[in-house]
Amino acid sequence: MSLPGAPFLARQGRELRLDGCSLDALAREFGTPLYVYSQRAMLDAVAAYQGALAQRRHLLCYAVKANPSLGVLQTFARSGCGFDIVSAGELERVLAVGVDPARVVFSGVGKTRAEMQRALQVGVRCFNVESRPELELLSRVATDSGRLARVSLRVNPDVDAGTHPYISTGLKDNKFGIAHHQALDSYRRAAALPGLDVVGIDCHIGSQITQIEPYLDALDRLLELVEAIEREGIPIAHLDLGGGLGIQYADEVPPPADALVTQLLRRIDARGHGHRELLLEPGRSLVGNAGVLLTEVLYLKRGDAVHGSAKNFCIVDAAMNDLMRPALYQAWMGIEACVLRDSKSLVWDVVGPVCESGDWLGRERELALQQGDMLAVLSAGAYAMSMASNYNSRTRAAEVMLVNGRPVLIREREQFKDLMMREQLLSC
Ligand code: LLP
Repeated sequence: MSLPGAPFLARQGRELRLDGCSLDALAREFGTPLYVYSQRAMLDAVAAYQGALAQRRHLLCYAVKANPSLGVLQTFARSGCGFDIVSAGELERVLAVGVDPARVVFSGVGKTRAEMQRALQVGVRCFNVESRPELELLSRVATDSGRLARVSLRVNPDVDAGTHPYISTGLKDNKFGIAHHQALDSYRRAAALPGLDVVGIDCHIGSQITQIEPYLDALDRLLELVEAIEREGIPIAHLDLGGGLGIQYADEVPPPADALVTQLLRRIDARGHGHRELLLEPGRSLVGNAGVLLTEVLYLKRGDAVHGSAKNFCIVDAAMNDLMRPALYQAWMGIEACVLRDSKSLVWDVVGPVCESGDWLGRERELALQQGDMLAVLSAGAYAMSMASNYNSRTRAAEVMLVNGRPVLIREREQFKDLMMREQLLSC
């Protein structure tokens, strides 16, 4: 089985290398915990989508939430991507790297009035509206500000993406989108409301999807609706099929992005919708396997089966505040020694210093380790640093991007003064 992240992540002799750089050396140079991303791996992932979309009017909107660091956004902006945002904070980030707001779609189930105002002011390309009350409010906000809000409705197609319940979003019991049976009526309303311009239709059925069928099912349901909507005289210019394509963490074999796109385009054409612009909102599949989290082994705590538990704990300096996925979703992420040792391997629970039993990065991993070794948690480019917190007053990690194989610090490690920056001592 190849390493997730191959060919950019590879073992050369004993050394684990990303884009040719020794991860052990990077950990020692920049300190740990440290996120390291390969820009080449990101560009390669974008190219897979863009190659398959080349003959079609399209906008590939990188889902900022997967990894919102400015260096990452710049990388995607320069490679011709648009952006999918879900908050005013994400909007400010894409503006900070000079993105044309006409390449930005605004998703999310709870947009506030202030967020709508700001997005209208800068002129985002489209609001993906997720409920009737949101539609009503957006109409009022747009009219009050004398602007026109371009909208697409996010339809919940009620298909099972076959993924973890927390990251499945296209089932009728999920909070996301407008129910399929209410969609037509909501389009009528959208077309009638002042300040709104209906431009598209949208769905996003979940994340870490490893099969093509759920996408095709959702697409079929969406196209039926488009036909019904256009019969009412409401033109739909674009189809936005969301993101969600999975990556390899363990032994999953998700379809390559170009295979997914090719099949989607084939189905769109077969049903006579080939003239529409296609939008996609991938996050994880553009960055997930481009990154690793490096962490140092602080202590090895051996179990004692005779007098207690046989469990061996490898305590590292990264924790659930740096990488929440294992604690939150029981996610399995690969863990590799940066430099392989000859010594005998043992089975370890790799855990962090946070005061919670849920603070683990990997359970029952067979590794040959010594105190002071560096470990790499794999597939950590997406939903890793973006979900980091300061729990236990831990400073957030630094991030390095390998640009043409050379390390560039794109985010400094937080300092203690950053932790207390917005706080005030009581004055009474
Ligand atoms: N578009 C919308 C409207 C979304 O809600 C999402 C992700 C995406 C696009 C991008 O999906 P992707 O291509 O990255 O799968 N924290 C979880 C994943 C949450 C995904 C939320 N929405 C995790 O670590 O697995």
